[in-house]
Amino acid sequence: MSDLPQERRVVTPIPGPRSAELMQRRRKALPAGVGTTLPVFAARAGGGILEDVDGNQFVDFASGIAVTTVGASAPRVVAAVREQVDAFTHTCFQVTPYEGYVAVCEALNRLTPGDHDKRTLLVNSGAEAVENAVKIARYTTGRSAVVAFDHGFHGRTLLGMSLTGKVMPYKQGFGPFAPEVYRAEYSYPYRGTGDLQSTVQYLDKTVGARNIACVVVEPIAGEGGFIVPAPGWLGGLAEWCRDNGSLLIADEVQTGFARTGAWFACEHEGVVPDIVTTAKGMGGGLPLGGVTARADLIDAVHVGGLGGTFGGNPVACAAALAALETIEAEGLVDRARAIGELMLPRLRALQATYDVIGDVRGRGAMVAIELVDPRTDAPDAALTARIASTCHSNGLLVLTAGSYGNVLRFLPPLVIGDELLHDGLDVLEKALAAAS
Ligand SMILES: Cc1ncc(COP(=O)(O)O)c(C=O)c1O
Repeated sequence: MSDLPQERRVVTPIPGPRSAELMQRRRKALPAGVGTTLPVFAARAGGGILEDVDGNQFVDFASGIAVTTVGASAPRVVAAVREQVDAFTHTCFQVTPYEGYVAVCEALNRLTPGDHDKRTLLVNSGAEAVENAVKIARYTTGRSAVVAFDHGFHGRTLLGMSLTGKVMPYKQGFGPFAPEVYRAEYSYPYRGTGDLQSTVQYLDKTVGARNIACVVVEPIAGEGGFIVPAPGWLGGLAEWCRDNGSLLIADEVQTGFARTGAWFACEHEGVVPDIVTTAKGMGGGLPLGGVTARADLIDAVHVGGLGGTFGGNPVACAAALAALETIEAEGLVDRARAIGELMLPRLRALQATYDVIGDVRGRGAMVAIELVDPRTDAPDAALTARIASTCHSNGLLVLTAGSYGNVLRFLPPLVIGDELLHDGLDVLEKALAAAS
């Protein structure tokens, strides 16, 4: 990345000719079900820039969906991966353990909320982390019901999609889903839904406190549209769980590892979950997930009940340790907060000009705008798609989100410079002007 210029540059129509050719090959070789946000093929990425095979350089407001928190070619990560690959690529931790796995678990036990005794299990992805968290909760409570939320997203496995709130594209046609999954309203201040009282009433009256093994909740709904719940809502859920012998599983897969201006988003609300699931930003770009749980819970599970062939792969662990070191050495938790302090006021200023921006929200470097019909506040997914497409054509990589597809979300790598942040927001402003 050191020689990748940190500037936006659009030198061909988007997609350019080499990307278009590769898209043709892709269409013949891959199923249509694997979507594409921006049909350009990556050549290099680092800092706040992604360069495609035609030489276009995009300002990266996506981080590979909240993964490349430390950048896509962070020097410490690159060096650690090289060193580990030279030593060995795999043993299977359950066959022959290695130190990197233990060190990642120690770091997670130290960094996740709460100073109680914890243990961590490593897996390959966010979905697998959630699956294992629920397994542990059911095992230790002896209960079967799992409560998830509207606007929640927890992955594409059977249980992950069963917990997920949005039918298209995640669930349509893929049922039947896992049983004993119940869905409560998520707190959504802009839309005025999901107050704590009605959530708790649902748990008590509809599901029944004694049946609930766990409540699985994102501290900020990610795919659901970066919805920051009302203050006190998450804490109220935690209290309800404590009072009723249910476990609170905080799914920090998208929010974790400095993204929101804290190591974990639960910290903003002073909430200490029983189990925390992690992935995405943890592995410095390599696939790694984690389940960090109260020791008394996770240690109860019998030998062989947890694990997997690739979980906690040594190369991914080396990358994760280097990513964690980078976050600590470069003060990226504070940097995430500073990014929010730069972006949110500019987005609010845009809201004052463009009444299609119904809401501006987020924490740290996880911020979003919700686009609506200003007369009715009805979600405007078509406008959102148009603005995203104009941004892409002008060299800004943005993602859409939201249960109604009407949210533009911004997740820059935390190593991006202020100039690129402003440049990206300038592109967004022009796209808004063109679309309104
Ligand atoms: C909150 C949350 N949980 C779970 C997942 C699933 O993670 P993965 O795609 O690594 O399986 C995601 C992915 O976006 C997520 O945002």
